[in-house]
Amino acid sequence: MSRGHKLITIRDLGVRYDNNVALEHVDLDIYADDFLGVIGPNGGGKSSLVKAIMGIIPHSGTISYGESLMRGGKPHIGYMPQISSFDKAFPISVLEVVMSGLQRERGMLRSYGKAERQRACEVLERASLTGLEHRAIGELSGGQLQRVMLCRAIISKPQLLILDEPTNFVDNRFENELYNLLHHLANEMAIVIISHDIGTISSVVRNIVCVNRHVHRHDSNIITEEQLRNYNCPLQIITHGDVPHTVLGEHHHCPHCEHEE
Ligand SMILES: Nc1ncnc2c1ncn2[C@@H]1O[C@H](COP(=O)(O)OP(=O)(O)OP(=O)(O)O)[C@@H](O)[C@H]1O
Ligand SMILES: [Mg+2]
Repeated sequence: MSRGHKLITIRDLGVRYDNNVALEHVDLDIYADDFLGVIGPNGGGKSSLVKAIMGIIPHSGTISYGESLMRGGKPHIGYMPQISSFDKAFPISVLEVVMSGLQRERGMLRSYGKAERQRACEVLERASLTGLEHRAIGELSGGQLQRVMLCRAIISKPQLLILDEPTNFVDNRFENELYNLLHHLANEMAIVIISHDIGTISSVVRNIVCVNRHVHRHDSNIITEEQLRNYNCPLQIITHGDVPHTVLGEHHHCPHCEHEE
């Protein structure tokens, strides 16, 4: 199977907060044609993994970035953080938020020009947000805000897009639209998406990555019950249509961790 060229090489990564070990001994490679679904229990370290990749939290071990990811001497990655209600407090408009995704390539100081507005309007249209350009972000619904943050992450056309639980606040209709959009974007960039909605995610992504203090990349998008057991994943499987909704119980046994220790 062709995996394209390597964008990110992670070796023996560790993340800790004071005495709390969030991640340890993590090895992971991310390739240019990847569409990875990241799953794992709450507190398993998923957000910590992507924050380490983004260089916004301290870590041990190494993260190397491929040449093609570099712009202006720094890795350029589209990132949509996990959204909390706090984020809505900033008094800026939808258009400004989306254009702020261009900051890195154009510097902080100049004001935005016509070309940048045009690009922002184009991505907003792709996310079905036309008409909301001048709305303050505090006046958006959770789902709308998430779509705006997605636009901000893709406006600069990154080679890698990382989304931390982008469907938390969105309704079913937008969830489908989002997955459609990601499906198209996956031809243009590598995508890493964290999600609890593993029923849907496994049908959208190409590979699954399990995160629970350790990280394991599976070379398929099929999630087996054994995998869930191995990674202690008390996950909800949410499916749409006629398929019943299943909730898996929490598993306390984690053979993978025992092997590693
Ligand atoms: N800023 C922080 N300070 C202290 N501990 C933190 C901090 N951020 C995360 N942690 C801890 O690190 C561990 C991993 O957290 P992380 O947010 O990476 O998990 P997650 O898999 O993203 O969880 P969720 O599914 O709830 O988003 C948890 O035990 C969490 O409490
Ligand atoms: Mg998280």
